[in-house]
Amino acid sequence: MTFYPVFLDLRGRRAVVIGGGAVAEQKVLGLLSAGAHVTVVSPEPTLRLAHLATGGEIELRRRPYRSGDLAGAWLAIAGTDDRAVNARVWAEAEREGVLLNAVDDLDHCSFIAPAIHREGDITVAVSTSGKSPALAARLRQRVARLIGPAEARLCALLGELRPELAARVPDPPARTTLWYRIVDSDVIEFVRRGDIEGARRRIDELVSEVGPLESRLKPRLGSTRKRAQHLPLQRQGRVAGLPATVYLVGAGPGDPGLITAKGLELLRSADVVVYDRLVAPSLVAEAPPKAERVFVGKAPHGGGADRAQDEINALLVDRARRGLMVVRLKGGDPFVFGRGAEECEALQAAGVPFHVVPGVTSAIAVPAAAGIPVTHRRVASAFAVVTGHECDGVSSLDWEALARVPTLVVLMGLSALPEITARLLEHGADPDTPAAVIASGTLPTQRTVVATLATLADRVAEEGFEPPATVVVGEVVRVRELLSAEATGLTHPARRLVSQV
Ligand SMILES: C[S@@+](CC[C@H](N)C(=O)[O-])C[C@H]1O[C@@H](n2cnc3c(N)ncnc32)[C@H](O)[C@@H]1O
Repeated sequence: MTFYPVFLDLRGRRAVVIGGGAVAEQKVLGLLSAGAHVTVVSPEPTLRLAHLATGGEIELRRRPYRSGDLAGAWLAIAGTDDRAVNARVWAEAEREGVLLNAVDDLDHCSFIAPAIHREGDITVAVSTSGKSPALAARLRQRVARLIGPAEARLCALLGELRPELAARVPDPPARTTLWYRIVDSDVIEFVRRGDIEGARRRIDELVSEVGPLESRLKPRLGSTRKRAQHLPLQRQGRVAGLPATVYLVGAGPGDPGLITAKGLELLRSADVVVYDRLVAPSLVAEAPPKAERVFVGKAPHGGGADRAQDEINALLVDRARRGLMVVRLKGGDPFVFGRGAEECEALQAAGVPFHVVPGVTSAIAVPAAAGIPVTHRRVASAFAVVTGHECDGVSSLDWEALARVPTLVVLMGLSALPEITARLLEHGADPDTPAAVIASGTLPTQRTVVATLATLADRVAEEGFEPPATVVVGEVVRVRELLSAEATGLTHPARRLVSQV
């Protein structure tokens, strides 16, 4: 059965509740808060219902239901656990054209009550068409985690600004796009911080951008619109000349569960997903089925990367200008050796709004997955993260300083591992410093080699490790004996320690 969802305006309308137990009481409170005039029919009402009647807030008939009780009612709820009574109420309701919900008795319902999440003016109703109220309640709880006080405050603010925005942006399609731009922007972040004035200023900025952007894009607008008719990607309602937002989202180190809640939420509403080589395929699958998925992964050892980066930038700008919401999904964190900043610069130069959602970086999470904390109060009060590409030719890094850093993490360091360890030793590092390489960290195929700085490169070569791999050098590697997945058995059994010092 398919139900037609509606929200009813019950102000001043008569609602009759048959039954006076705890369930009926909740229904009565809901009806009263919606402004209904409520009559309760029950020989044994709860104390609260009796008080409401004494206070004149409801009419109470202290007796069992009898035919005729629905006279003048607009809506009724049968909150009894007696199906025979429900059947009689149902017969009267059908005869008199009164909407009826019999609690937990689908056969006697002309409407069903959804599980509700309410936050200010926002109401989300979840229905399972009467099949599983328990599942509806759990889903409602999940929704509640997404829609909290900040969303309610934003909703109130947008409602307040509605007349002003209608006056400032009279063109309806431009206004619709502006509304999407506002709700897709970082305005919510200001609201979350309690900075309502900041949120107003940010909205004001976005409104002021509409004029210049419209005129800048107008020469192209006609042709864009014509092309749009043939584009399967084009989304109705987002086509008014303004670019949509590009979200740079950190996908985490490999385990798909390590994306942030915010990142996943954005991914699930993306029109276009542009993703890298190290992003888990199951995460890409989270995008809506109709979303365009563009793989822009580079070869593990680079090569022509600069041209590829220009192409990626151009792709992001192009899709955003078509009004499509783009999620640029990057391994780990977008700003840790992820070229995230370059993409932001390109978007800014093109006048495309963007927002960065940080991710769990492999620099910290991959050692952690092998039981290695990058800091430890007793042995390491600082850590540095470098790229192994810095070791290929002339290095701009201060290797003497790096040799002294308590914990050194090297990303993209697998192929240059012999050079990296040699440089550290040359610059005074102790050859017995514990060191580890973790390949495919956080994934079921994770492998770890633990050795010393002097022996690490040979051990890794013997094992034939493949990228992606993270190198960690420092006393923290010893902590692994206590915390490792292999030692505790707490994570995936396939994760393998290949060798120990
Ligand atoms: C281009 S960098 C990107 C880093 C990413 N932005 C981050 O924050 O994790 C890629 C490097 O991260 C490291 N890496 C990423 N995922 C990894 C994984 N699952 N296991 C081990 N190392 C990983 C490797 O050193 C790899 O070469």
